[in-house]
Order: sequence, then structure tokens, then C-alpha cells
Amino acid sequence: MKPLHVLLIVAVGAVSAGCANPERSRDLANPAVTATTLAQQVCSNCHGLTGQAVSPNFPNLAGQVAPYTTAQLKGFRAQSRHDPAGFEYMWGLSRHLTDAQIDGLAAYYAAQPPVAPTPVADRTRLDAGKAIFETGVVAKAVPACAGCHGDQGQGLAAFPRLAGQHADYVVKQLLVFQRTDERPEGSIMKTVAHELSEQNVRDVAAYVQSLPGL
Ligand code: HEC
Ligand code: HEC
Repeated sequence: MKPLHVLLIVAVGAVSAGCANPERSRDLANPAVTATTLAQQVCSNCHGLTGQAVSPNFPNLAGQVAPYTTAQLKGFRAQSRHDPAGFEYMWGLSRHLTDAQIDGLAAYYAAQPPVAPTPVADRTRLDAGKAIFETGVVAKAVPACAGCHGDQGQGLAAFPRLAGQHADYVVKQLLVFQRTDERPEGSIMKTVAHELSEQNVRDVAAYVQSLPGL
């Protein structure tokens, strides 16, 4: 039997040989690893192989507009977006990403087919959500979401896609914008969300989850 230290050297050698191959590497600090490899070997653990996240704890990234994904990854990397789940999960993961990797990741997700929307059974909630999405809440000067996010919630320029997003995640983010400064790049959304009641938030979140987008 080989002495333990020899086995260890062999084992360590095997691991670093794996990392030296950028096509199979999970090394988030190696600028040679391509965005596609990172997306499929690291990000996939939470966001799904093609950006369709099964668990509502993790946002869907599939079909997201690229400038938005780029901005969020840079926000996590710079530690400016600091809502609790953001810093807990995304700060460490984004710390060593290069600008080129970030652009590549954003392009990867933008090219993936968007999720099929999850139906919401509560008709009253959907109708109320649709009204907010399409016309806002006039009495409280809340603007229509469609004006920035697209009439089907498909995203518009740098305004993020909302269609098909998990309602739980949408609720969480609307409350972050409304009640905290944890997403400093979201100052527009702070104004938008300011006057929404908790019921408004839940209604509009259910509605966007049910939208197929374009
Ligand atoms: C261990 C789980 C986990 C892994 C792995 C992970 N993420 Fe995330 N990611 C999250 C969570 C949780 C959030 C939601 C953060 C929040 O609520 O602010 C998130 C949010 C995001 C967002 C913001 C989405 C939005 O709609 O604003 C982007 C973009 C993102 N992740 C990209 C990535 C990329 C790219 C990778 C791989 C380098 C990755 N994530 C790996 C858990 C993960
Ligand atoms: C004036 C333009 C504008 C309007 C109107 C608007 N939004 Fe936004 N929204 C934005 C911008 C810009 C962002 C990105 C903020 C950031 O980068 O942090 C955003 C982000 C969001 C996010 C976070 C998405 C994610 O993946 O984390 C949600 C949820 C959201 N908006 C919901 C809504 C809802 C619901 C309405 C209608 C009540 C609405 N927005 C109206 C501009 C707008």
C-alpha cells in the first residue's frame, strides 16, 4: 500500500489537472473559464441549466435582457446590491468574475428560451394584478409597470423581464425596493413601489408570474 502522502499528492494532482482544463472548471476565479462553462457548471446549481430555476428561492434568468443581468452581476460584485439573499448567495459567486465573463453570462441567459408561465388560479388576484400592471394605481400615482417592463412583461432595453418570474421572488424584491435601500440602482423602483399596498404587491406579482411574455 502506498503511504498516505503519496496518495494525497496524486489526489491533489488530479484535482488541479481538472481545474487547469477551462472547459470543465468550476473555478470562479479563473478568467480563462468561459461564461457558458460557469453557467452550466456553477450557476446551474441554483438557477437551472438554462436559467429556468425550479425553486422560487432562485430567480429565473432565462430570456432576461442582457443589460439588466450585466448590471446586477456588477452590482453584486461591487457589493452595492445588498439585499440579504443577494449578499448571502451572490457576493461570493460574483467576486472574481471578469467583465468579459459577466457579459458572456448575460448573453448566455438572454439567449435561453424563457420559462413557461406558472398558472395562478385566483382570478380576482389576477384581475387586480393585471389592472396594476397595465394602468398602475391612478389614485396613488403609481405608474403602469408595462410602461417600462414591456406590455407583456418581456423586458425592454435595460428594464428587466418580469414575465414568468416566480411570484415569491417578485414580492420579495418589491418589498426590498419599497422598504430598504438594499438595491441602490433601483431608485426608480423605490418611487414606483412606494405607494403599493402589500395586497397590490401580491396581486401584481401573481399576474407577472402568469404572463408568458413574448
Ligand atoms: C447557491 C445558489 C446560487 C448560485 C450557485 C448562483 N446564484 Fe444567482 N442568485 C441566487 C439567489 C438566492 C438570488 C436572489 C438574490 C436576491 O434575492 O437578491 C440570485 C440572483 C441572481 C441574479 C439577479 C437576478 C434578478 O432578477 O435580479 C443574477 C443575475 C444571478 N443570480 C446570476 C448568477 C450567476 C451568473 C451565477 C453563476 C456565476 C449564479 N447566479 C449562481 C442564488 C445563486
Ligand atoms: C419608470 C420605469 C419603471 C416602472 C414604471 C416600473 N419599473 Fe420595475 N424596474 C425598473 C428598473 C429600472 C428596474 C431595475 C432596478 C435595478 O437595477 O435595481 C426594475 C426592477 C423591477 C423588479 C426587479 C426584477 C428582478 O428580477 O429582480 C421588479 C420585481 C419590478 N421592477 C416590478 C415592477 C412592477 C410590479 C411595476 C409596476 C407597479 C414596475 N416594476 C414599474 C423600472 C420600472
